[in-house]
Amino acid sequence: MLVDGKQMRPIWLDGDGRTVKVIDQRRLPHELVILDLTTVEQVIEAIVEMVVRGAPLIGVTGAYGVLIALTRAGNEADFAEACRCIAAARPTAVNLAWAVARVSAAVQGAPSPGERLAAARREAEAIDAEEVTRCRLIGEHGAGLITTISQAKKGAPVNILTHCNAGWLACVAWGTATAPIYVAHEQGIDLHVWVDETRPLNQGARLTAWELGKAGIPHTVITDNAGGHLMQHGRVDLVIVGTDRTTRTGDVANKIGTYLKALAARDNGIPFYVALPASTFDWERRDGLREIPIEERSADEVRFVQGLAGHEVTRVLVPPAASPTANPAFDVTPARLVTGLITERGVCAATEEAILRLYPEKK
Ligand code: MRU
Repeated sequence: MLVDGKQMRPIWLDGDGRTVKVIDQRRLPHELVILDLTTVEQVIEAIVEMVVRGAPLIGVTGAYGVLIALTRAGNEADFAEACRCIAAARPTAVNLAWAVARVSAAVQGAPSPGERLAAARREAEAIDAEEVTRCRLIGEHGAGLITTISQAKKGAPVNILTHCNAGWLACVAWGTATAPIYVAHEQGIDLHVWVDETRPLNQGARLTAWELGKAGIPHTVITDNAGGHLMQHGRVDLVIVGTDRTTRTGDVANKIGTYLKALAARDNGIPFYVALPASTFDWERRDGLREIPIEERSADEVRFVQGLAGHEVTRVLVPPAASPTANPAFDVTPARLVTGLITERGVCAATEEAILRLYPEKK
């Protein structure tokens, strides 16, 4: 994606094929820092600490992580253990385990170490490229929804609310929730994005706002609690969010707070769409509330807030030091609250029947 006239992506494989370069997303928007990942431990730490985050991106990182594991592992058992640990680094986004399994499988049967390496690299690069294509297609399908609203409003700005960061930083390119926004903007549709700050780590305020600003897309950062009020006053036309795991029946796990936005949207008759590539469907699960593992993250993410003080990025404590805190990182929005899913194969209802019409091979 173009940032200040320079093409950028959140991850790439260096020429030597043994170093993964990533943007350190913990430091944005105030500092743009690139890190090198050359060991399995570094890959795992980057995923756990959210140097890289967002479902498709952690999948792609896991895929390149398997390649790194292969360059490092002494024997088959070490390699299998490294893959297991990478896949377990974050539990909610299904993309991670899916991508690790896919690259590990591609390596099986390759007759020599050199061919194993080549197979891993081929597969990881294929996943990376596929995610870019899928996201662009999500954008093309989803832009139609924005155009329809724009026409109904006779060209007045379409107000879209989004939660967390489901943009190119989370996905390699285009993003999922932001892809229809980028495509509609390219097509000249007048639009404006309400960006939920997304406590505790502020992926909306830090990352989505940065992305949209760099793309010249009008946006306003709001507190997580402002969405319902804006909806009640007709200031939101459409909600589009991403997802970390969506069941075959259309239940959606996404960043904590998504469910509350879906409830408010339903109460106000506002369409609530979820954008996702095929890699984010969990075809094995049917009941999101009971079956999707919800990551519980460090209490410190709730206790401290990070920001720029003068010229330095710093962290400050918010609640009383002795107060206990809890940090469930995702919630599940039941399919009944989802107006539709925007996928690379088109837009469908959040029902098993409609999903399987788009993905008949999963019947
Ligand atoms: O904890 P994060 O920042 O990895 O959570 C990310 C989200 O919840 C995104 O909405 C989701 O991964 C979709 S990314 C296209």
